[in-house]
Amino acid sequence: MAAGDVARHRAEMPSETAAILDRRSLARDHRRLAAMLRLGQRVLDVGCGTGAITRGIVEAVGPGGRVLGVDANRELIDAARRAHGAVAGLELDVQDAYALPYRERFDVVSAARLLQWLAEPARALAAMARATRPGGRVVVLDYNHEQLRFEPSPPARARDFLAAFLDWRAEAGMDNAIADHLVELVERAGLRDVVVTPQHETLRRGEPDFTARAGIWADVAATRGRQMVADGFVDEGARAAAEAQLRAWSRDGETMTMYLLAVDGARAA
Ligand SMILES: C[S@@+](CC[C@H](N)C(=O)[O-])C[C@H]1O[C@@H](n2cnc3c(N)ncnc32)[C@H](O)[C@@H]1O
Repeated sequence: MAAGDVARHRAEMPSETAAILDRRSLARDHRRLAAMLRLGQRVLDVGCGTGAITRGIVEAVGPGGRVLGVDANRELIDAARRAHGAVAGLELDVQDAYALPYRERFDVVSAARLLQWLAEPARALAAMARATRPGGRVVVLDYNHEQLRFEPSPPARARDFLAAFLDWRAEAGMDNAIADHLVELVERAGLRDVVVTPQHETLRRGEPDFTARAGIWADVAATRGRQMVADGFVDEGARAAAEAQLRAWSRDGETMTMYLLAVDGARAA
């Protein structure tokens, strides 16, 4: 399989991971976009998943605005339609980020946590820039997984699994540190007036949904972990042990920080 096809295969969201996406909201999980939106705008949300953030975008642009959420995964678009399909001003469609068929159509084009899953993020950004009207803005939000921090550190099996997860992604051509390469990517797409906004997420024990949100890595072990077993990156015993340790950490751990940057730039007017 070519590197791009491996990445495409590995990026496919196992359906159990939809719950992770459903917990997200525009206000909490894409704050830079929330600050950019204005009433009446036309917005494209690329890699919208189950549409939880997309729903917030519709509310932010109001009845005069229009929002299109697209994702390559038909099952996720079906789930998004079931949850939000009746919302006025919202459309949901299956589209590939590399082949967006839109030209100069949107005031704002966003991709949150998408580029990390692509072997050719520059190609997707070029398609996003083409979809943006002159003077409109593209905003991308993503992780540097190499900067993930737990306090206290989880036990060895969990740490080994997380290292294997990064190796599994890197082998497919995905950039584990893509947050720190977004400025270069956005500039290469010809966008100007670039703004960088740190969006690190720190979860602290005692917060109401700490266990559910900090359980993201146990969820990754439960879902992506099975893909990693199938791909020979970890054996099932190690995967299951890591899942149990990460789940225990989500109950007993203190703080977890995920490193995220939002980077946005304007298409020349
Ligand atoms: C981690 S999820 C992020 C979902 C949502 N934007 C959020 O921030 O919660 C990544 C999404 O990108 C989608 N995706 C992966 N490769 C894609 C591609 N080539 N074109 C469009 N969507 C893609 C996946 O199906 C998944 O829904």
